[in-house]
This record gives sequence, structure tokens and C-alpha cells, in this order.
Amino acid sequence: MKFFLDTANLDEIQKAASIGFLDGVTTNPSLMAKEGIGDQEQRIKEICAITSGPVSAEVIATELDGMISEAHKLSSLAHNVVVKLPLTVSGLEATKTLANDGVKVNLTLVFSPLQALLAAKAGAAYVSPFVGRLDDVGEDGMRLVEEIISIYTNYAYETEIIVASIRSPQHVLRAALIGADISTIPFKVIAQLAQHPLTDKGLAAFLEDHAKAQAKNS
Ligand code: G3P
Repeated sequence: MKFFLDTANLDEIQKAASIGFLDGVTTNPSLMAKEGIGDQEQRIKEICAITSGPVSAEVIATELDGMISEAHKLSSLAHNVVVKLPLTVSGLEATKTLANDGVKVNLTLVFSPLQALLAAKAGAAYVSPFVGRLDDVGEDGMRLVEEIISIYTNYAYETEIIVASIRSPQHVLRAALIGADISTIPFKVIAQLAQHPLTDKGLAAFLEDHAKAQAKNS
């Protein structure tokens, strides 16, 4: 499973790259706003300079023509930009046009398996089901991912599934167990993946035993 980082923060992206967990990056207008960024173009270029993996940049326009022209502008920023569009009727229509023009699209804000089926039929390179937000309203977000995997397998669609809105290591574990293509993970969850209290306890015991043995021999 590929690990994308779900952030627009350059320090986090650098850090994930240096520990070897960076297959790509996803951003959205809220993540840009969190960094105080109003015009995302410069930040997208900076992110693309750190990683050669896919970097999703979301359009702000909501009607067809605006989406298409913004998408072309974003995709010209770097070779690895993936244009993120909302899964609306206009978003699907724009995806079809952009896919024909060779622009890679990530259809986002996906909350149902039928939306994901439409994304694949429109030619989206990626689809982003938001699992945490479904959990937040009492549904099982990962069940949605299972259903999308079944549908895509039935018809051999090549659209890659990005498990998004990840809140905990459990989401990442379930994504890996069911064979999702990609998890896009907030930085704090990446850090949690490596942690286990028994690892810390075991390491402390090893170091203590080593110190005792050294003291005995000195
Ligand atoms: O990439 C966007 C998605 O991951 C949003 O996550 O935490 O705002 O629901 P969240």
C-alpha cells in the first residue's frame, strides 16, 4: 500500500520524505488555509520539488468551464500534479474532458460506492472515499472502501483508491488488510503507526540490562 501524506505543511512533508514514508501528497483548500495560504500555486510547486510522487491540488471553481481551466493551470505547475475535483455532476463532466486531455484527476468528497463507480466510469485516475467523516456520522467508513474495491474488481477498473479522512492507525490497518491502493495519512497518524508501548518498554529493559552488564564488567 502506498502512503500519501495529507497535508500542505512543508516541514511535515520533508520529515515524511526523510523517514522514507512519502509516496505522494494530498492537499485541499482547508489544509492550505491551515497553513495560511490563499494562493496555492507556489505551495504546490514547493511540494512537487520535495516529492516526485503524485501531488493532489484541488480546484476552487465549482462549474464546468472554471474547473477545466483551473485544472489545466494546476497541472502545468509540475509533471506530478494530480487535479482534485469534487464528486459533483460538473466534477464528473470535467473529469471526462480532462482525462481525455491526459490530465490525472482525483475525485474527492466521495461518500458512496455509486459515486465511486461514476468516478471510475468518468476516467478518474484516483478516487478519495472519506472514511473518518463517515465514522463521524455513525457509519462505517471502511465498509465503503470494501464496497468500492469489490466494484472495481468486478469490472477491472484501474482507478486507484485513496483512503482519505484517516483518523487513526486502525484506518490504515483496515485499508492494508482489504488491499486499498493508497492511504493518505495525517502526519500525526504516521508517527502513531511506529509506536507501541511494548517496544518502548522492551527497549528500556534492553538498555538497563546492558548498563548492568557493563557495570559488572568494569
Ligand atoms: O484529503 C482530505 C481528507 O483526508 C480530509 O480529511 O480529516 O478533513 O476529514 P478530514
